[in-house]
Order: sequence, then C-alpha cells, then structure tokens
Amino acid sequence: MREITGNMRVLQSYREKRRQKRSERIRKLYEQHKRIQALLKEHGSDIINSQNFKRTKGHIQHGTMTVHNHCMDVARYSLLINKKLGLHCNKHDLVRGALLHDYFLYDWHDKEYLSQRKRLHGFHHPMTALENAEKEYRLSDRQREIIRKHMWPLTIVPPTCEEAWVVTAADKYCSFRETVGLRKGHGKQAV
Ligand SMILES: [Fe+2]
Ligand SMILES: [Fe+2]
Repeated sequence: MREITGNMRVLQSYREKRRQKRSERIRKLYEQHKRIQALLKEHGSDIINSQNFKRTKGHIQHGTMTVHNHCMDVARYSLLINKKLGLHCNKHDLVRGALLHDYFLYDWHDKEYLSQRKRLHGFHHPMTALENAEKEYRLSDRQREIIRKHMWPLTIVPPTCEEAWVVTAADKYCSFRETVGLRKGHGKQAV
C-alpha cells in the first residue's frame, strides 16, 4: 500500500512538472509574439495600415495564403531568425524590406497576368515590387537590396547585406510551408 502511495506521488509530481513546463513554454511563445508584434508596429505601421498593402489581402501567394499574410509572416520570421542566430540586422530595414518584398500588387494566378510577361512572375516581380515601393516610400539601400534580391538564386547575383540574406531565407521557409500546406491561409479576402 505504502509503495502504491509512493508511486502515485511520483506520478503526480511528474505531471505537475510537465504542466509547469508546458505553461512556461506557452508564456515564452506569447512574450515572443508580443515582442515581434511590437517591432512590426514600431518599424512598419505606416506600411501595414496603408490602403495598397491592405489590397494584398485580395491576392493569393501560395495555396490559400494571401500575399498580405505571407509578407507579415516573412517579416515575423526575419525578426526571429535575426534573434535566434544572434545576428545584428538593422531591424528597421529588415521589417520594411520584408513587408515590401512582394509589393507587386497583382494576383499572379490571374489569367490576365499568365498570358502576359507575368508568366515569368518569379523573375520579374522583385523589380515590380521595388518600383511600386519606391513610388510610395523612401527606401534605404538595404531595403532596396532586400526587395531586389529576395528571389536569389533566380537573381543570380547574391544578396550583399545580412538583412537581404535573412529575408531571402525567411521567404523560402514561408513559401515552402505554404506550398506544401503546412501553413494554411483563409483565401482571398474582400478589401
Ligand atoms: Fe517574391
Ligand atoms: Fe515572398
């Protein structure tokens, strides 16, 4: 009987430790989410609240993911990569470059675009995004480099700054998850 009671206590303390670990993990994830959201707001609120950026909610990127949510995810993962790898990226350029990296402002799945030069969307869209972003925002050289080179190796010439490498990696990671269905969106939204 004493042995059974002892085993029950061990089991209870094991469960309690697991519960504590789980709530600690959730607390850390929540803190991380809050920190990332604050950085997005600090460095990119004008872009996020603009009409043209909101319009990208009506364009599909991969699967059911909109261009809008894709760019928000790429900005979040860029900040995460910067932190996890202990890099020293300029956060202002990193966030703004990531938010604007796919600022091409059309749906590349539309027949209208498939029949034109947009058939080569993968090659052309970084320059279209850059032209659109230049019209509305004062870009730094790093932000230009992020937008221009995010499709490397299609661009052939590799990125020349840390920030562009980070966004290129975050973009590929997010695109892969969206394409294979690991990260699902909610489809086009009315804007
Ligand atoms: Fe892109
Ligand atoms: Fe992208």
